[in-house]
Amino acid sequence: MSALGDQSQEEPMAAQPQPQDRPISNIVIVIAMQTEALPVVNRFQLTEDPQSPFPQGVPWVRYHGTYKDLNISLIWPGKDPALGVDSVGTISSALVTYAAIQALQPDLIINAGTAGGFKAKGASVGDIFIISDCAFHDRRIPIPVFDLYGVGLRKAFETPNLVKELNLKVAKLSTGDSLDMTQQDESSIIANDATVKDMEGAAIAYVTELLKVPAIFVKAVTDIIDGDKPTAEEFLQNLAAVTAALDLAVEQVINFINGKYVSEL
Ligand code: ADE
Repeated sequence: MSALGDQSQEEPMAAQPQPQDRPISNIVIVIAMQTEALPVVNRFQLTEDPQSPFPQGVPWVRYHGTYKDLNISLIWPGKDPALGVDSVGTISSALVTYAAIQALQPDLIINAGTAGGFKAKGASVGDIFIISDCAFHDRRIPIPVFDLYGVGLRKAFETPNLVKELNLKVAKLSTGDSLDMTQQDESSIIANDATVKDMEGAAIAYVTELLKVPAIFVKAVTDIIDGDKPTAEEFLQNLAAVTAALDLAVEQVINFINGKYVSEL
């Protein structure tokens, strides 16, 4: 008979299954632009969540659905409330990633989007890359150690089996809040050894590392940064076609992920 006063010896609680003990079931895809997001929404027949998990009044949109064994949420930061354009860039992407992880507790984050590519590093328009490393190129703090904080180098979650099976190119990504590139940005991008340049990746990597959620990055090249065409023009010209290629790549990645453990990617 247990002593009446011995209340501390309760039955041990059954351990909660951890994400690494079961196949991936809950995925969040973060996509910054509506043009990039809608083909993916349509492909997986996702629907807008009528009860947004996000604070009232923010433009962030969650599309949701199930596909095979996966519960998929696609998060789009929405339109800027004042200007009506897509909320691209590091601030919005970090905020939505944080809020989505808090609300949805995903097993895996996928950031998919378009990017500029360096032809000197082998990139061509339409190429799809899986990112190995993310860093910033526009956070210059020339004080010891703060300089490294500014660059913010982080590794993406490694997916050797996915890369091999889908025969995808792997490259480093450099992130900044501008579509164009100053000479100082260019020097930093070269120092980062980056092949692709976007406006969200390293910010999302910062949040996913803080909250310990594995993150993978799928980037499709719309424009050649070291080419002779004006970036904005080339980007807009290629956006629709490259977005279709990105959508197909995301489908292949999702099909590969379905039924697998995080450790099998
Ligand atoms: N997204 C597409 N092209 C880009 C570029 N050149 N720079 C940053 N983000 C991009």
